[in-house]
Amino acid sequence: MKKGYFITFEGPDGAGKTTQIDLLSDYFKSQGYDVVLTREPGGTELGEKIRQVIFEPGKQGMAPEAEVLLYAASRAQHIKEVIAPNLLAGNVVISDRFIDSSIAYQGFGRGMLDYVELVNNYITKDFMPDLTFLFKLDPQIAKERVSFKKQKIKPESKEFYETAMKGYEYLEKKYPDRICSIDASMAIDEITYRIIKAASQKMFGC
Ligand code: TMP
Repeated sequence: MKKGYFITFEGPDGAGKTTQIDLLSDYFKSQGYDVVLTREPGGTELGEKIRQVIFEPGKQGMAPEAEVLLYAASRAQHIKEVIAPNLLAGNVVISDRFIDSSIAYQGFGRGMLDYVELVNNYITKDFMPDLTFLFKLDPQIAKERVSFKKQKIKPESKEFYETAMKGYEYLEKKYPDRICSIDASMAIDEITYRIIKAASQKMFGC
């Protein structure tokens, strides 16, 4: 049985997740926890190689079904090598993205929800996050905050991102106890306050 605590961060690129992940990690460390910061795709040697394949500059024509499986392969390795052992050891694992990204981007964005759920439910069934912070930001503002370099690596259409965000709304409704939505246009301090409050309430009941 897992003893630790698994927290994920989700939302559009450019919503400011990284800053808040670091601040939440500092908070848990100050409470005496061992904290593991990780990300998807990636988080393991194999996962980082898969990340390079997915985001290879100029790459075109990858079958959407293959893309789903690459993200899922990275996730399966991530659970086996990082998430499961750390949760079993009683540590806090904070991941920048997890299954919800696949549901939003591939399930909704690429219109393959059944396939994404089928593959991912098998992989994640015993290791779903205890708490997920979903950063919400106007897609146009999010896009403006993402570097030009990154936009060139992932040149998706406006419709793709809008549909993916609908995927997050679907998840928010489906898992109200797990997903805590954050208005990412708020000041950094305010966001940190809300995140730490929600995390400590969920973990320590206060
Ligand atoms: P990031 O590491 O800078 O957040 O970028 C990861 C990108 O990968 C982001 O655009 C979302 C995308 N992604 C998916 O499309 N599906 C997934 O399952 C995951 C984990 C990420």
